[in-house]
Amino acid sequence: MTSVETVTATENHDAPLYNHPDRNLALELVRATEAAAIRASPFVGRGDKNGADGAAVDAMRKFLSTVKFAGTVVIGEGEKDQAPMLYNGEQVGTGDGPAYDIAVDPIDGTSLAASGRRNAISMIAAADRGSMLDASQVFYMQKIVAGPEARGHLDLAAPIADNIHALASALGKPVDEIQVGVLDRPRHETLIEEIRAAGAATRLLLDGDVAGGIQAASFDGALDLCVGVGGSPEGVATACAIRALGGFMQARLAPSGDDERRRGEAAGLRFGYVYDATELVTSENTVFVATGVTDGNLVSGVRRRGRGIRTESIVLRSQSGTVRRVVADHVASKWL
Ligand code: FBP
Repeated sequence: MTSVETVTATENHDAPLYNHPDRNLALELVRATEAAAIRASPFVGRGDKNGADGAAVDAMRKFLSTVKFAGTVVIGEGEKDQAPMLYNGEQVGTGDGPAYDIAVDPIDGTSLAASGRRNAISMIAAADRGSMLDASQVFYMQKIVAGPEARGHLDLAAPIADNIHALASALGKPVDEIQVGVLDRPRHETLIEEIRAAGAATRLLLDGDVAGGIQAASFDGALDLCVGVGGSPEGVATACAIRALGGFMQARLAPSGDDERRRGEAAGLRFGYVYDATELVTSENTVFVATGVTDGNLVSGVRRRGRGIRTESIVLRSQSGTVRRVVADHVASKWL
């Protein structure tokens, strides 16, 4: 593949000085999300969720097998018997080099991609081996995510109105300028009413609370806060990004029934407990990469023009505190 890359970077100067020799891992991983997004793109708007997901999984897995690291999929496409590839526990990479836990979502927003809507991304998060919370036994968690200014001021267990007012004061802006991302789901009906009653505005997300959380934690994101109940796997992946952005995140498991609770307890998960980002991912060394499948607020989607394909990705590394935006032109028939 011939690629032309344009990279722009912003840096968080509060980040610790990096001392890891594996800086290139992030740029290797972004090739895997680029491949997944490209392969999924012919399925965009075709109403075929499984086709889109299958193509993305297949491409991501092939690319990961070439990356020089010893990756263990902690958050994948499910258990081995239901997900033939990128299943929880699968070893990926060449097996040499640094040992990492990885969380993959070949498409976050599969329905968005299948229906041709905005904000579908392909993503991978990585952190030192053994540092990601394995929350696979419990499907949902309640989350609250914001930028670095929110640290020490917000509390997931507090009423949403209190959090909105605390955030407005931490950001030094009026409450009516606060934009809150929340998944548009019947379970959030009361939450949405409370956000509006507090004087803030909602930005309802059809899907994709990973991208929502990253926007809330980014200094130039369209959101100030992202709240509500979403997937636990997505929550742990979001925590990797939030650690790299120096942002604020808390989460509490939201079991769907007694069975999930029992399985979660057996796996050592804590119910009623508010986890913060450093407990969802205990390592200070995290990487998060995402490529747009469809156009979105975080990144643009895959563009095809003649023989060329353009992708846009973000690459976040906690060790440097950098946010890289990578625009790559893939000029080769192999991907068309
Ligand atoms: P997938 O596309 O991977 O299925 O996830 C989309 C998503 O919107 C996540 O971003 C979110 O955390 C989760 O689904 C919410 O689950 P649900 O759609 O069941 O409310």
